Amino acid sequence: MINYKDLNQIKWNIQTTIASKVMGIATDKYLRLSPTSHTLGICKDSNKRLLYIHIPFCASLCPYCSFHKFLFDENTAITYFELLRYEMKMVYNLGYKFDSVYFGGGTTTILPLELSKTIDYAKSLFDIKEISCESTPMALKSLIEHNLHKKIDRLSVGIQSFNDEYLKQIQRYKKFGSAQEQYEKVKNAIGLFKAINIDIIYNYPNQSEEELSEDINTILSLKPNQVTFYPLMYSPSLKKTLTKQWGKTSDEQEAKLYKLILEKMKSMYTQRSSWAWSLQSKDIIDEYVIERAEYIGIGSGAFSFVGDTLYANTFSLKIYEAMITQGKLPITHNAVFPKRAIKQYRMTVELFGLQKSNEHLYFEELLLKLYGAYNKDAISAKGAFLFSVLMKEFYNGMDNVRATMRSKLKEEDGLL
Ligand SMILES: C[S@@+](CC[C@H](N)C(=O)[O-])C[C@H]1O[C@@H](n2cnc3c(N)ncnc32)[C@H](O)[C@@H]1O
Ligand code: SF4
Repeated sequence: MINYKDLNQIKWNIQTTIASKVMGIATDKYLRLSPTSHTLGICKDSNKRLLYIHIPFCASLCPYCSFHKFLFDENTAITYFELLRYEMKMVYNLGYKFDSVYFGGGTTTILPLELSKTIDYAKSLFDIKEISCESTPMALKSLIEHNLHKKIDRLSVGIQSFNDEYLKQIQRYKKFGSAQEQYEKVKNAIGLFKAINIDIIYNYPNQSEEELSEDINTILSLKPNQVTFYPLMYSPSLKKTLTKQWGKTSDEQEAKLYKLILEKMKSMYTQRSSWAWSLQSKDIIDEYVIERAEYIGIGSGAFSFVGDTLYANTFSLKIYEAMITQGKLPITHNAVFPKRAIKQYRMTVELFGLQKSNEHLYFEELLLKLYGAYNKDAISAKGAFLFSVLMKEFYNGMDNVRATMRSKLKEEDGLL
């Protein structure tokens, strides 16, 4: 729950800088993965977790994106989907149970038939209630032709901007069409899927409030079920190149644009996290990290969090294939966290999801109160901005992990 009374107080100040630096230091300290032969054990409870499935292929690569992905090759991708299903069976054999599946990418919808088979297989093994997929605007037509709108409950489509100039800058205009064309594609898909989310990036260098305001007006006329606004993030591995090509992003402008999002979106949408808004309050699946303390990830470059341990699957497609073929889970690295760090992580995630935390971390609570992150029993607008900034830092930390794991790909796979 959020209280917008302090909306005008959203700004980037010294406390925001300190909080973001502290988060940066914490992620650097804890998100250090070591090689391990330790793997997931037999599941001893009957909890239903979330199954995350990573599809690391894209038809072309966007210059700002630091997620784990390769340029699409059909044969490699078909083999990969087969291996994924083996891995799913291994997790099933260990006794894990799932009620929802989140396909993340990459472009999860790049081979609709394989995706469809994989969904069917997951449903045959587990009692799955909800399927979410990330995708691009190009996939919508073929998903509908393959009847996948009947199998996917929530489809998240990366739009990034409804401004043609920004689409050209981020090299998506030629690949995915003009803003108008993308608008039409999404419009035709709304209503067919149970829920459509669109991803928008804001705070491009020199982006004005008028420009973002136009994007939001377009969104309000399109009325997707959910919208996620990501602040533009220069991951540490891409920062130098992007700053040179596009210029620096401004923290102060990020705060102004965040305030504008809250001001305009709250008239029609309900805020579900510091970044996500939904039109209806039901039928929407939140980003998986908010709802679930534990999840299992399958596929190359997927992470699992169980107990006090973060496990990482190999980022190498060759090693992935070799391990699965030998009947081994493809986990190669892990990090074990102290109890307090887990509580702090859960607290950040709960607050990012605009839920008051149940972690009883009194010192952190005091700091947040002094910052003005709460307004009576609700999260304040200033607090929502702070949690957006902290989540951005956490994403940076995960980008560092991905960059380290991917730096070995040249020797492991002979490719990048
Ligand atoms: C893993 S991507 C998958 C989306 C899909 N492949 C596409 O590009 O349409 C999920 C979302 O992360 C966001 N994203 C990726 N890189 C980002 C960056 N550097 N800064 C901010 N948001 C980013 C984009 O909004 C993107 O739609
Ligand atoms: S933004 Fe989406 S399409 Fe572009 S490289 Fe990243 S995952 Fe692939």
